[in-house]
Amino acid sequence: MKVSCANFDRTGDIMIIPVFKDLDKAPNNTTVGLGRGPSIAVKAAAASDAISGKAGESLNVWTKGCTVIFIGVGKKENLTHKVARDTGAKCLAGLSKDLGNDIVIRFTSGWSTENMTAFAEGMMLRDYEFDKYQKKDEEKNHDDWTLECQAHERHLEALSESIEEASLVTTGVHLSRDLANEPANRLYPEEFGRRALEWAEGKDNVEVEVWDYARLQKEGMHGVIAVGKGSIRKPCMVFFRLNPNIQTDEKVPCIVGKGITFDTGGISIKPSQGMWDMKYDMHGSATVFGLFQALWATGYKGRVNGITCMAENMPSAEAYRPGDVIDTYSGKTIEIFSTDAEGRNVLSDGLWKAAELDPSYIVDLATLTGACVVALGQEASGLWSNDDKLRESIHQAGNSVDELAWPMPLLPAFEKEMTSSKFADVRNGGKGRYGGANTAAAFLKQFIQEREDENGGKTAIPWAHLDIAGTAWNVDTNACVAHGGTGVHVRTLHRLITQG
Ligand code: BES
Ligand code: MN
Ligand code: ZN
Repeated sequence: MKVSCANFDRTGDIMIIPVFKDLDKAPNNTTVGLGRGPSIAVKAAAASDAISGKAGESLNVWTKGCTVIFIGVGKKENLTHKVARDTGAKCLAGLSKDLGNDIVIRFTSGWSTENMTAFAEGMMLRDYEFDKYQKKDEEKNHDDWTLECQAHERHLEALSESIEEASLVTTGVHLSRDLANEPANRLYPEEFGRRALEWAEGKDNVEVEVWDYARLQKEGMHGVIAVGKGSIRKPCMVFFRLNPNIQTDEKVPCIVGKGITFDTGGISIKPSQGMWDMKYDMHGSATVFGLFQALWATGYKGRVNGITCMAENMPSAEAYRPGDVIDTYSGKTIEIFSTDAEGRNVLSDGLWKAAELDPSYIVDLATLTGACVVALGQEASGLWSNDDKLRESIHQAGNSVDELAWPMPLLPAFEKEMTSSKFADVRNGGKGRYGGANTAAAFLKQFIQEREDENGGKTAIPWAHLDIAGTAWNVDTNACVAHGGTGVHVRTLHRLITQG
């Protein structure tokens, strides 16, 4: 979708007029550019009982050359960025290219820059399909939408800037959905690495490095290796670096992603019902990749690191087993209770490695536990942190882009449970099913390194964990996505990193 801003002038093939509740006549500027006849028809429609401005309402008025669509937004005083974004998304979902590709939207009055941007952002986010493996219907119009956002002159400068930014961040969200939606036969660990290298080509302020199976062995990344060795598609780790040559003496963020391109459960095999969803088990890594695209596209000037831990969790003669004690990059050993608790094993290496980059903070994203979905449903990701300020910043960033991250407890009792193995330093499963998302977070905390602080003591590096098992795909209540991967938290982390 190509997006631009202008004042009230041309009308386009489709002209959207968002209207508030208790509409009694067409808002000022509604009919600018329409002929006399169409203007009369559109004004009459606005004044009629056919549209009142209630949320969810819409009314199409056909005129020659331009279909005018009134969209009800609800009460003006209830307008929030969420209402605006969701209304924009639903509005786009209802449009047909049979009416043409050229959309004009008129924000007549009562709109702040933030809410206009959110409305347009909802349209852009929703303008997404993953149809590369389907034959195209030749009869249909597949050309891109163009969207012109019209507003009062005084808004235009700020509006253009923020809409342009939203459109660039959206490229990252869509990339992350593309990766998530790829089936596991097409996107396996090394293919993810290859795409990352390809993405970095020709971009002079990004660096991507892929550690293949041989390199993982040389470095001692045994958490990633244990999980990935059961598959003929061997594991790898991918390092993303934005602006690697600046701020080299400053601490900068490091974002880590779980990247299980398919999770069968391994020897602790999953039931076949629903197993097809496990192609999405790399969404944490998809978010990291999409975030780097968003940061790069918006021209972020700071340095940022990313690490994705890629493996396919398969049962085979070479797979790891329950009862195994595996080494990890940290030097700590893990007793495997379930080969299906594989995400934490790969992350143990990624998180330990992250600390070597001396980051300002670490954030990991993982489709880690079914228990998180039981706890929170699909409305929010689980958020755990060892640092109150970081937890609050992520919570705020999530709220402001409507990707909720809900604070969850990181309790000493859970850590005690996860370090109670009789044979290894850490166990990869809790003693029972209770609090499964919390015990998983407590496990990860064992792999966050401490470093010297100003007082000569040792403090753990600020770290936050986002369990995105419920929010990463097929979220029916997410108006900004039709189905499939959501690209969740690309916008949250872009916000966190660029605006603190
Ligand atoms: N990828 C799954 C978690 C998952 C399951 C996400 C369903 C979304 C939907 C993860 O690797 C897993 O299998 N976790 C186990 C952990 C358990 C064995 C301790 C789980 O949640 O059952
Ligand atoms: Mn699993
Ligand atoms: Zn998994």
